[in-house]
This record gives sequence, C-alpha cells and structure tokens, in this order.
Amino acid sequence: MDYQLLFSQFTANAAHTRWPRQRQLHECLRHAIRQGTLGSGARLPASRTLAQELGVSRNTVLYAYNQLATEGFVRPDQRGTVVAPALGAPTQTTRRATASRNALSTPEPNPHLRAHLSRRALSVPIYEQGSVDAATAFTPGVPALQDFPLTLWRRLLERAWRTMRKAQLNYADPQGEAPLREAIANHLRVARGALLDSSQVFITDGTQHSLDIVAHAFADAGDKMWIESPGYLGALAAFKGAQLKPLGMVVDAQGIAPSAADWQRHRPRLVYVTPSHQFPTGTVLSLERRLALIAQARAAGSLLIEDDYDSEFRHDGPPLSCMQGLAPDAPVIYLGTFSKTLFPALRIGFMVVPAGLVAPLRQLLSRSAPRGRVAEQWALADFMHSGQFSLHLRRMRRLYRQRRDALVAELERQLGGADGQAAVADVYGGSAGMHLALRLRDPQANDVAMSHWLRQHGLVAHALSEHTIGQRMQPWRGFVLGYAQVPAEQMAEKVALLAKAVRLGTPP
Ligand SMILES: Cc1ncc(COP(=O)(O)O)c(C=O)c1O
Repeated sequence: MDYQLLFSQFTANAAHTRWPRQRQLHECLRHAIRQGTLGSGARLPASRTLAQELGVSRNTVLYAYNQLATEGFVRPDQRGTVVAPALGAPTQTTRRATASRNALSTPEPNPHLRAHLSRRALSVPIYEQGSVDAATAFTPGVPALQDFPLTLWRRLLERAWRTMRKAQLNYADPQGEAPLREAIANHLRVARGALLDSSQVFITDGTQHSLDIVAHAFADAGDKMWIESPGYLGALAAFKGAQLKPLGMVVDAQGIAPSAADWQRHRPRLVYVTPSHQFPTGTVLSLERRLALIAQARAAGSLLIEDDYDSEFRHDGPPLSCMQGLAPDAPVIYLGTFSKTLFPALRIGFMVVPAGLVAPLRQLLSRSAPRGRVAEQWALADFMHSGQFSLHLRRMRRLYRQRRDALVAELERQLGGADGQAAVADVYGGSAGMHLALRLRDPQANDVAMSHWLRQHGLVAHALSEHTIGQRMQPWRGFVLGYAQVPAEQMAEKVALLAKAVRLGTPP
C-alpha cells in the first residue's frame, strides 16, 4: 500500500486541507477502511514507519491509530495494528475497482446491494442525466444560467437574512411564506389566467416534490392514473414511487387524446398533463380538448394534475391561459416551478389546489412538509414584488426566441430538406418553452443508438423513444433538444453533428 499517495490524495481535497494533521490522518485511514482499500485483516505499518513515510510526527500516527481502535475500525495484536475482521472482506470487484481509482471517488454500485432496492425503485426507467450534462447542448430543462442576475440575487438573499427576526428561525408555515404565496398568486392571475386566492398556494421544493405530495395525498397504492406518452419520466418516477399504476395515454398533434372507452375502462384517480407545452413533444393541448378533459374528469371523479413547467416562455401567438383557470372550481391541481424561470438549484416550486382541498392538505403537510428555507422564499418574494422577475422573464423570452429561431432554421436547413437533400425529420413544439422535439420520419430509426453516439461526441440529445410510457403506441423516434443554453451562433455546428448521426442511420 502506498500510504504517501493515499494521504496526499486525501489531503489534496479542498474540504480536508484545513484540518489538523492528526485528524487528516485519522479520517484518511477510516475512509480507506470503509472503501475497502484497506481490507479486513490488513496490517497497518508501525507508527514510527508510517510517521517517517508521511513526514508527520509519531504522535500524529498514534492519535489516528487510537481513534480508529476506539471506533472499532482497527485492533491491536502482538505485532502491531490490524484492520478489524468484523468489517468483512472486500469483494474482488471492490478491490480491483478501488485500486484503479482515486481513493476518494464514488464507489462503484455493488451488485449485491441491488437486492436492497425495492421493486418500485427497480421499475423506474434509468434516465442517463448526470450533472455533467447540465451545461451541454442540447440538455433539456436547463435555462440560460449564464444570464441569471446572480449579483442581484445575492443582494436579495443578504437583505432577507438581515431583516430576519429570531422568531423566524422556527419551523415555518407548512404552506410556505405568505409574501411569496401572494406574489405567486398575482403572477398566475396576470400571466397564466389562473383563478385563485393566495390561500390555495403551497410552496414546495420544486415540481418533483409537488408530484410526490400529489401522488401520496390524492391517490392510494394500486390506483390507476394516466400519464402522457411520450411523457415526462420525472413524473413517472414519482407515481411509480407511490405505487400507483400509471397508464400511458397517446399524445397526437393536439396533445393527450383519451377516448370515451378509456374513461370507462381505465377510470383514473389522477391524470397528469403538460397542456401548455407537452413534454417532450412540445405540442399544445387544444382548447377543445382542455375543456373536454375538465368535463370528463369532473364526471369520473378524477383529479387533473397540470404541470405548467415552462409556459412563461411563449414564442409565437398570444399567451395561452392555463387549464386551472378555464372553469371555476375545475378539478385541477396546478404545478409550477422556478427551475426554468430562474435556476434549478433554487428548488422552489408551488402547487395551487382547489379551495376545498386546502385544509386537509395543509393538515397533512403540517406533519410532513420540510417547513424551512424562509430566507430564500423572502428573497424570491422580493424579486417578484419589485418587478425584477417580470424583467428577467422578458429578457429570457427574447433570448430563447432568438435561440429557438436559430435552431429551427438550422434543423430545417440540414435535416428538413431546405438544403436540397431529402427531408428526414420534422420539428415539433417549438412555439413555447425551452426545448423542441425533432421527430425522425423513419419509424424504425434507432434514436437510442444515435443518442449514445452523439453523447460520445459531446452532444446531449435525449432519444424521444425512451420517453414512451407503456406498450400501446408506436414510439416517437427522434430527439428532445433543449436550446436555452446554446448561443445562436453555435447552432449550425451542433446541428451538423446531429445531422451526421441521423444520416449515418445507426452509427457504429
Ligand atoms: C415536464 C417537467 N416538469 C417539471 C420539471 C422540473 O421541475 P423541478 O425542477 O421543479 O422539479 C421538468 C424539468 O425538466 C419537466 O421537464
């Protein structure tokens, strides 16, 4: 074992540099034992030898060995100090993997530990979406982070903390802070045509959290529910996580289209929709279908979940009001998020529930809601009440429209036949939001293989067919292209790579 290398890698980590030497050594050895780098029964060097090798005092080593012995990680024997056998021998895989990696990197998933995962967890489709993707073209759902007014946001946060009273350090209101709920209600009335009072607003940790709440509060394990197909896999994960039975409902050019027979045969407890900009196809649910959905849900006793995640950005035509505002007391739970309008790491979203459901939901959440992050909520309320939010939206709308125009022009030129070659794909759903769908004309195209090839070449283009939910329909084949972060002048080059993958068919 190269203790010098082990120790230098550990101390190079910024989080460990300020610790005293003896703590660094203790934590370093403990980490190595936990990771299996130092396996059960391994003999540690004599304290004098290790001290010399590492250039630390012998007392430092003795301190670390003593601490490890007190915690049960090592034990003394006649010849020195060994790693305790109770910690179990590391498997061959762990040994090999650890030896070849930096001692501080994330351990490989252990196949034996998969047995601990629930059937629910295993049933959720794996969706490759690491944080490394975040700043890459064409990752969907990430706004133009470079254009966020970070200095202003920092000032608002500072102001919120400065004016905070000590009483506000307590568990907060389970519905969220009143000034933010009022700001959201005002915004939704004006910008989204919603019908609501601020008492119907619940602040959450983002839409994913709202979906978890809805799935647990308004349905029971085993209940049927509907979700659009192709659809949003984050919602699917939340519903499966709550042990509901999601049924994929076909999306056509006007959005979700359940038949009368569907309503009779598969009566759903919940119906999840993205009517203003369907994810991932980008289609807009027609007014006729919205009204029909509300009437049918009312008749069937179902609740509609309207995920209005990116509708603040409408590029063509007049803004469409949300479904929640189409009929007084519509059976709609409206979900909104600041992940697209501001930034995803903020983790603030909201739900608007029908007036009659406020009291029971509030009661439920008073036990289970996080009930914190008051300063962020006050800063956000300030951002909205001061008009900065509307200003930011106007700026982003201009930027996204310009980027959308550039992307559509390139897609049409390079894949839509405008360059004289045969058209192989069509653009869907670019009229709003921050992404569009590129649908390939070949119904057998292997968009998954193309997506992998593109990823290897530095481009993220999630395959549309991977968003198919259920077996009842022909998958859409093509890509979801998020353009919010891609400067217009880079579109030609990015689309050229995409076009190469498509024209190659199934790349090697
Ligand atoms: C349809 C849809 N809803 C919600 C979200 C995300 O919401 P949040 O970040 O608030 O969980 C996304 C993110 O891409 C999305 O595509």
